[in-house]
Amino acid sequence: MPSATSGFTLYGDAPGAGADADPHDVGHSVVELPTGRIELAHPLDALDRIYRLNFGKDGTEPPYWAQPWPSGIELASVVARRDVGGARVLELGCGLALPSLAAAQGGARVLATDHAPGALAFAAHNAERNGIRLEVARCDWSDPWSAVAGAPWDLVLAADVLYDHGSLVALADLLPQLVRGTGEVWIADQDRPPAREFLDACRQWATVSTIDTAHPEVRVHRLRRRDC
Ligand SMILES: C[S@@+](CC[C@H](N)C(=O)[O-])C[C@H]1O[C@@H](n2cnc3c(N)ncnc32)[C@H](O)[C@@H]1O
Repeated sequence: MPSATSGFTLYGDAPGAGADADPHDVGHSVVELPTGRIELAHPLDALDRIYRLNFGKDGTEPPYWAQPWPSGIELASVVARRDVGGARVLELGCGLALPSLAAAQGGARVLATDHAPGALAFAAHNAERNGIRLEVARCDWSDPWSAVAGAPWDLVLAADVLYDHGSLVALADLLPQLVRGTGEVWIADQDRPPAREFLDACRQWATVSTIDTAHPEVRVHRLRRRDC
């Protein structure tokens, strides 16, 4: 399987995204997917800022949303190889929203959500600059009204959300409320330590199947309700 990550190139120093970043700190990366080419605007110094904030030592969440993580890139690649035309798709913790953009490019009706305002601004901007129709909404897993209001979804996407933070219990409670029948949840994960326990808990309500991706550490876990 070709790697979406290998087609991911940074060429930086491009015009601003109009979001909460200095325009001169915004770069653009290109991802080539089967559904088309996506130019992704993102803050250039996200990893520096994340390390400077020392992974939330002072209680503030670092801007994890601002980095295009391998899980998001690989999930976009998996989505772009599926027929999602006409499907209603929700993304949780979307960050820059590459999987959402791939799904929308493939003909899905997509709502991209995150709790970080910067993520939503960049997601909306990226949709516009690529001519892709995408809805964005704030959704914190502890107060997920925007996601629950649209349920049931045909497909719920989430990439690199199973890391150590205070909202994993809320996320575990939320997922079964979002799908029914043939609806599925696809979670891409880069072998983060909390993932195994989280997925074991999900097995109480879902069957979980796992597929490899082109990235050696990233897998996509597909959850489907067992009671439907
Ligand atoms: C590691 S980043 C992954 C971003 C993107 N999905 C990717 O793969 O590039 C985790 C994302 O989850 C979001 N997030 C963390 N806690 C959240 C919560 N309680 N509710 C909603 N989003 C949350 C963060 O804002 C961030 O965008």
